[in-house]
Amino acid sequence: MEERIVSSEERRDEAVMELSLRPEALDEYIGQTSVKDNLKVFIKAARLRNEPLDHVLLYGPPGLGKTTLASIIANEMEVNLRTTSGPAIERPGDLAAILTSLEPGDVLFIDEIHRLSRAIEEILYSAMEDFCLDIVIGKGEVARSVRLDLPPFTLIGATTRAGSLSAPLRDRFGVMARLEYYKPDELSEIVRRTGDVFGIKVDDLSAEEIARRSRGTPRIANRLLRRVRDFVQVEGKDMISLPICQKALELLQVDRLGLDHIDHKLLLGIIHTYKGGPVGLETISATIGEESMTIEDVYEPYLLQIGFLQRTPRGRMVTGQAYQYFGLEASTE
Ligand SMILES: Nc1ncnc2c1ncn2[C@@H]1O[C@H](COP(=O)(O)OP(=O)(O)OP(=O)(O)O)[C@@H](O)[C@H]1O
Ligand SMILES: [Mg+2]
Repeated sequence: MEERIVSSEERRDEAVMELSLRPEALDEYIGQTSVKDNLKVFIKAARLRNEPLDHVLLYGPPGLGKTTLASIIANEMEVNLRTTSGPAIERPGDLAAILTSLEPGDVLFIDEIHRLSRAIEEILYSAMEDFCLDIVIGKGEVARSVRLDLPPFTLIGATTRAGSLSAPLRDRFGVMARLEYYKPDELSEIVRRTGDVFGIKVDDLSAEEIARRSRGTPRIANRLLRRVRDFVQVEGKDMISLPICQKALELLQVDRLGLDHIDHKLLLGIIHTYKGGPVGLETISATIGEESMTIEDVYEPYLLQIGFLQRTPRGRMVTGQAYQYFGLEASTE
């Protein structure tokens, strides 16, 4: 799969930059108002009771700020943050080692929690519910189970696929927070904030322009800003203004809704070859030469979100809105 400037996945070279851009307190975290308001109350109450915060499940598409929010929660609770991920915990011993090394009240963050194996999940149940671990020592006839007490802790799980979490695991989270795509004005605020961190001035119109093309996703907004900044600096300017910002975004081939050539290929492919659909996923996959899983997980979500594509029982359909966007007449057959 080729790398897209508008992909919402983190790129290999971005980890360091993202770290430096992460807000550290809840009040600096832009948008997601209802999630934030709820968390504020839960955090305050937990602190008053001098107890760890309830376990929290954060879910939503990539790049919306799940990892960021997990570290903010640990900051606000004034406890340590331990980070790991579903695929990194291979054996029960791995999990036991982490859990027994926590201090009371600590936050354990498990990213991609839907990728934990069933065996590990089962150990987590009692750890989350009773703060204890049941582990089996020895093999065969001499095997016996021992119970280890754990310090009380908060588990924060993050996932892009809440649906693939098993029900018993999901039920053990006291707080479930779904992150939503950001509104344009929230993204402009993020762009201006990132500009401050980068030490480059971004005028309001440019911030709005970048925000509109960022597919509701802070990670993409920050990436576009970084590319525009490169362009501006190469031109010998020290501030981002609208004309140069638009020129840079055109060169990056991100259109005014944040669509790139792959989105165009997908939509126009369905329009020209199948009169706008409905057409099955497998057929689309063969037509444009991309794997159907990639189409479903990576290409389609944003197009569905902006109402350019519809999933129907008979297949995918391009909407009238998309026809209009491309300046085409919808087929009337
Ligand atoms: N609410 C926000 N305010 C300001 N910046 C944000 C916000 N949310 C995310 N960001 C920025 O977006 C970047 C990506 O966020 P983050 O890594 O937390 O996303 P994620 O949901 O964990 O993504 P993934 O699913 O890929 O792990 C962060 O580096 C941060 O700079
Ligand atoms: Mg993350």
